[in-house]
Amino acid sequence: MKFKISESIATIKSYEPGKPLKEVEREYKISNVIKLASNENPIGFSPKVYDAVSKHMKVMNRYPESTAPVLTGMLAQKFHVNPRNIVLGNGSDDIIALLAHGFLNPGDEALMPRPSFLMYEISVKTAKAIPVMVPLTDFSTNLEGIVEKISSKTRLIFITNPFNPTGSTITYNEFNDFSQKVPDDVIIVVDEAYIEFVRDEAVYNSLQNPLHDPRIVTLRTFSKAYGLAGFRVGYGIMDTEIAQILNRIRQPFNVNTLAQAAAVAAIGDEQFLNKSIQTTHDGLDFLFDQLAILGIHCLPTQSNFLMMDLKTDATQVFEQMLKLGVIVRSMKSYGFDTFLRVNTGTKEENIVFIAALKKVLKK
Ligand SMILES: Cc1ncc(COP(=O)(O)O)c(C=O)c1O
Repeated sequence: MKFKISESIATIKSYEPGKPLKEVEREYKISNVIKLASNENPIGFSPKVYDAVSKHMKVMNRYPESTAPVLTGMLAQKFHVNPRNIVLGNGSDDIIALLAHGFLNPGDEALMPRPSFLMYEISVKTAKAIPVMVPLTDFSTNLEGIVEKISSKTRLIFITNPFNPTGSTITYNEFNDFSQKVPDDVIIVVDEAYIEFVRDEAVYNSLQNPLHDPRIVTLRTFSKAYGLAGFRVGYGIMDTEIAQILNRIRQPFNVNTLAQAAAVAAIGDEQFLNKSIQTTHDGLDFLFDQLAILGIHCLPTQSNFLMMDLKTDATQVFEQMLKLGVIVRSMKSYGFDTFLRVNTGTKEENIVFIAALKKVLKK
């Protein structure tokens, strides 16, 4: 190419989303495909979201409210913080990028586990900074390894709890021990995209005691437990000084009117949230039972997905499952060649998944 691209982004690999449903239907000329590959919510979203969104359609000729006061106010009330502690994003992806742009200078370092959610690395490199990756130990975040890699250039640390893609978690004790070893001028980003699904009370939840540590930035999303992935709404809860920086550099209308209305309605419907969490737990219990019967080893999880070791090339299994109309995720690109990741579906989808897996593995 005759145009020179920024050196820091030359090594970025594009984020590969789970294969879209419609693409598989077109490619394989099949219908009724099910997708269990992107940790989405299989039961949709609150019925209240439909009403809220349709009511707001008539104002779609106007720009959204930049500060989203209703949504911010509801979140502030829910978590007992001030609206000034909240930053909204076009998905939590957006806030990850804002943090990188707001707090990294060229050559600075951001620590993260390897593998990790790819947007951390992409955002850090886009800010011309250096991602320093610390391999997992036993499929879990190696907090000690992260501490060892802290240098005078470290500005940000990304922690995911529960962890994507393995489903592992960090306990209160582990987090407290870790955070004591992190210097005062380093921001600890705790990405809690899947926290609503956690059943184990020992698992660290940064919003149980929000803002107790000014270094902690909590990231949450409406994409998973609330089922609003397509609307794109995420939020961060953080010290006001950090929030001010992010609000200064974010796009003024980064959360559109329909997304704001959808999130407000979703927060107001606890019944749906509980149903969504219960469906996930039932789905996980079913999948664990069925996979155990098939003799397939699964990693423990506190999330809405699980990883299983097929002891054979997972990509081949993934491709054969596609032909049967079931989209899952091969973990080969994450360095786990024999592992598949699957998120819980509806009861029917989980049954179809197990049947397809049996067929492919000839079990
Ligand atoms: C760990 C983690 N963080 C953040 C996100 C992004 O969520 P959002 O849809 O809010 O951008 C995901 C999405 O899969 C994720 O797995």
